[in-house]
Amino acid sequence: MGAQEELKKMSGRLPRHIAVIMDGNGRWAQKRGLERVVGHKKGVDAVKRIVEAGGELGLEYLTLYTFSIENWTRPKEEINALMELMVNAIVRETAALMDQQVKVLVIGNIVDLPENVKCKLKELVTKTANNKGLKLVLALSYGARWEIIEAAKRIAQKYKEGIIKEIENVNEGVFAEHLTTAGIPDPDLLIRTSGECRLSNFLLWQCAYTEFYFIDKFWPDFEKDDLYLAIHSFLKRERRFGKTGEQVGKDKK
Ligand code: IPE
Ligand code: IPE
Ligand code: MG
Repeated sequence: MGAQEELKKMSGRLPRHIAVIMDGNGRWAQKRGLERVVGHKKGVDAVKRIVEAGGELGLEYLTLYTFSIENWTRPKEEINALMELMVNAIVRETAALMDQQVKVLVIGNIVDLPENVKCKLKELVTKTANNKGLKLVLALSYGARWEIIEAAKRIAQKYKEGIIKEIENVNEGVFAEHLTTAGIPDPDLLIRTSGECRLSNFLLWQCAYTEFYFIDKFWPDFEKDDLYLAIHSFLKRERRFGKTGEQVGKDKK
């Protein structure tokens, strides 16, 4: 039985939500004496493979770290190339996403994106809104610290306006509702490619109890089988959420 078939049989135990830090496009290209942008282009192909694999497995949520707030500090030419790639990818892939019933959501400080990117993204989100398959969350111009500060500001404003009556009422659930990920379950599994072992300001709040999986491969080389391996690793782990191993074992019975 293939790895994919095996995982499909375990659908009840699969992670509900996988988040991916797609890293290493630039180094993939540079290693071959190519421009960094060639790596980004190859990276789009890897995105297509992984979205397809996620849908085939019946995954509920896939979040992709596509462009961070800190990435705005990159050279202008690289930023422009990335934005153009995004628009082209949306135009080219909308039909396939519709076929696969993928519903696209966007998180991040979207207002900072160029007008044409915002426009294409809005079209894509609207067009795929009623799709019933994989929910694909694109983190764009996203930064976790920005998101947490925004949530704190919105809560403070609601308190000032009397919408939130008591400070004591602000609990984890209320706070989470004010993040850009409101309504999206926390990631069960986070994958980062390229050998870097850090979060780079990604989903700091949401990853409180996420399982991490780091792989040396650069993102353009990431194959469906790598996703299956990551899920297999996840399935072998015991998630204790602060309890003892015995307690978790008992809970399972
Ligand atoms: C990830 O690859 C894509 C983005 C951050 C937009 P990088 O561009 O970070 O590639 P490396 O890490 O420099 O190799
Ligand atoms: C994180 O990768 C952002 C994305 C993958 C979009 P970076 O390559 O920007 O992260 P650092 O700077 O190496 O931590
Ligand atoms: Mg990088």
